[in-house]
Amino acid sequence: MAITVAVPKETAAGEKRVALVPDVVSRLVKSGVRVNVEKGAGEAAYYTDEAYRSAGAEIAEYRSKLFSTADILLSVQPPLPDEMEWMKEGAIVIGFMNPGRNIDGARKMKEKKLSAFALELVPRITRAQSMDALSSQSTIGGYKAALLAADYLPRLLPMLTTAAGTIRPAKVLVLGAGVAGLMAIATSRRLGAMVEAYDVRRAAGEQVRSLGAKFLELQIDAEAAGGYARELTPEEKVKEQAMVNDAVSQADAVITTANIPGRKAPKLVTKDMVEKMKPGSVIIDLAAETGGNCELTRAGETIVYNGITIAGPVNLPGQIPFHASQMYAKNLQSFLELLIDRKGDLVGSFDDEILKGSAFVQGGEIRHQQTRELAEGKK
Ligand SMILES: NC(=O)c1ccc[n+]([C@@H]2O[C@H](COP(=O)([O-])OP(=O)(O)OC[C@H]3O[C@@H](n4cnc5c(N)ncnc54)[C@H](O)[C@@H]3O)[C@@H](O)[C@H]2O)c1
Repeated sequence: MAITVAVPKETAAGEKRVALVPDVVSRLVKSGVRVNVEKGAGEAAYYTDEAYRSAGAEIAEYRSKLFSTADILLSVQPPLPDEMEWMKEGAIVIGFMNPGRNIDGARKMKEKKLSAFALELVPRITRAQSMDALSSQSTIGGYKAALLAADYLPRLLPMLTTAAGTIRPAKVLVLGAGVAGLMAIATSRRLGAMVEAYDVRRAAGEQVRSLGAKFLELQIDAEAAGGYARELTPEEKVKEQAMVNDAVSQADAVITTANIPGRKAPKLVTKDMVEKMKPGSVIIDLAAETGGNCELTRAGETIVYNGITIAGPVNLPGQIPFHASQMYAKNLQSFLELLIDRKGDLVGSFDDEILKGSAFVQGGEIRHQQTRELAEGKK
């Protein structure tokens, strides 16, 4: 019998995305899979129940029934422990799992013997690029960060030569030139700003320059495993502070995106630096959810300090839900190819390197080490 893939309506505050979009539903249905979508699941992202129905999905009225019939549950945010109570033993959950923070969820998954795959843990290997939801969603976050900066600034971004005089281009500084940072650079450039960027990974320099921005060199290279950054040594941090200090004081807008996996975000912009900025300047701190790159950032809030606007947005991809959902659904479609065979049945084993790497809970065991230790420590 065909397996059933279920898509619930997201319930977290401000979460407008949906795990599957109609286009991906129709591909799954064609491959022999049954797809159930909760009534109204795509509404906030502008995908109607009618569009899902036309794509071959069944619309489920009752959330508990949707969960209980799922062989594979696809979500954006991790499902709540109470809701997983409805699920069949051995069912599969795929989505963002908040590894290290979702302790009660992991315990419930273990208890129900669910298999959960965390998209945050997908190994960053070439074969997994099409499943890399961190990248797809960071791309959207970086774009929106540049728009927010432009919106908060009391000045124009592009250079203009008009009968009413000449306007100088705004200076945008991007700290952290990973996926989100590069998109923030590209978007700021398209809006006409002069852009400078800094990253501790030297490899980022070439990408920054290829987007027409200036790369600030620190003569260090802190690239670690998987293409991610490592934490800097105390001496390196002193050098970094001096360079960032100068750059921040000259910028009209600072967009920060620096992160180190599994750790708090590095503090790059101190209160002192903010005090040296020009009034009317703006900081958009994309690392707000992991502690912030600026000392004054408050997650989920926009504050004004000494005439400087400091925004700490959370879940920016959720603010562009149509395309964020489209890209996320494509990531899931690729991931599902590892789990579903050509006949539309589940594959027998989870031996694939990507499945092993992204296993959050499996076979009655919490596989993510940090989560497991926290879950056991809390007992
Ligand atoms: N499949 C793949 O091969 C694949 C997929 C995605 C990303 N990557 C690589 O991983 C890189 C980072 O990915 P990400 O954007 O998700 O990373 P991330 O969100 O963990 O971090 C964002 C950026 O912050 C930078 N950073 C950390 N500490 C810093 C500091 N003190 N000062 C300045 N910058 C600092 C990091 O180097 C990174 O570029 C990408 O740019 C890419 O090279 C590879």
